[in-house]
Amino acid sequence: MVHMSSLPDFKLETYLAQWEFSARHHMTASDAESLSVRELLALGGDAAFESLLDLRLSYTESYGAPELRAAIAKTYDTCAADDVLCFAGAEEGLYCFYHALLGPHDHAIVITPDYQSAETVPLALCAVSGVALDPRENWTLHLDQVAAAIRPNTRALYINFPHNPTGKILERDRFEELIELCRRHGIWLFSDEVYRLIERDPHKRLRQAVDAYERGVSLNVLSKAFGLPGLRIGWIACRDRALLERMVRVKHYLSICNSGPSERLALVALQHSEYVLTRTRTIARDGYEKVTGFLAGFPDLFEAYTPDGGVVMFPRYKGAEGVEAFCQRMVEEGGVVLLPSSIYVSALSPTPLDRFRIGYGRRNVDQGLNAMRELILRRRI
Ligand SMILES: Cc1ncc(COP(=O)(O)O)c(C=O)c1O
Repeated sequence: MVHMSSLPDFKLETYLAQWEFSARHHMTASDAESLSVRELLALGGDAAFESLLDLRLSYTESYGAPELRAAIAKTYDTCAADDVLCFAGAEEGLYCFYHALLGPHDHAIVITPDYQSAETVPLALCAVSGVALDPRENWTLHLDQVAAAIRPNTRALYINFPHNPTGKILERDRFEELIELCRRHGIWLFSDEVYRLIERDPHKRLRQAVDAYERGVSLNVLSKAFGLPGLRIGWIACRDRALLERMVRVKHYLSICNSGPSERLALVALQHSEYVLTRTRTIARDGYEKVTGFLAGFPDLFEAYTPDGGVVMFPRYKGAEGVEAFCQRMVEEGGVVLLPSSIYVSALSPTPLDRFRIGYGRRNVDQGLNAMRELILRRRI
């Protein structure tokens, strides 16, 4: 258990800011191949184009445009537009949820490894315990460990399936048991569902927390499966309107409201979700075959496993130099950005130190893998 009083440097975002736009091959992207404004507007036809051009660039409603909230609500079984609050990306949603719910006398549990703000934001507010996914058992979550971490003042449990960086989706029966555990203790289940809808096997798709549990809070965004991170449109769906209202009061200190043009484009994407999602899944399927084929070609260096969903995985690097030096060599000598284990080290629970995150959701996979192959073979000659 750790308690921190301020936010540390966001290692992952700092690392990506250093390399993402300067290196030649971004091979660790957690978003899918993005769409251009032109491609998106083509889906909506003349009406979408005209409505974007006529939009006045004023402030927008803090909760999000009513039409957009209604379209988002339709992606849930139990939500109305009023149960949805939009944010500037999922990141702002994470920040607002924790600040709305947690105070110094509370306790939260976070499943690790994690997207860093999932643990550092609550750590700045209250006591936090980590429960690690188990790499020896296909990254599953042991519910007895979650139960053991619960205290009388535990208010929130953060989960993220499909999981960044492993691609794990919790087994369905365990997910239902986890909900029961939260229900018994009155814990809010904060479910980061940003990689949902890119399950490799759709039968593994989990119910959304807000539909499955009265204290379920579903976090989502158009950045990942929809390939639209530049819109910065995320949201939280929650059936407790008072909690949503507390979150919007936090949002008033951050973005205040969403960007109007982004809201219009987000609506077009949601209205054509089948097209956009099929496109992402096709690219990810192809990328996955290539990345796993590449890893299998060097059995002395890599040990892979089968991720359930999302567009990234977290294979083991077995080379003598260690994964940190490997990733450094890849980016400095070959312009290939990967994320080494150190970026995913949690302050809460142990994280394997011999892993790296590699992505397969973008169309640049061939070039990135070729550059990696060349660097590896060069060392062997
Ligand atoms: C698990 C997880 N949650 C939240 C976010 C934040 O999403 P966004 O960049 O759309 O704000 C990310 C981004 O990578 C993520 O991986």
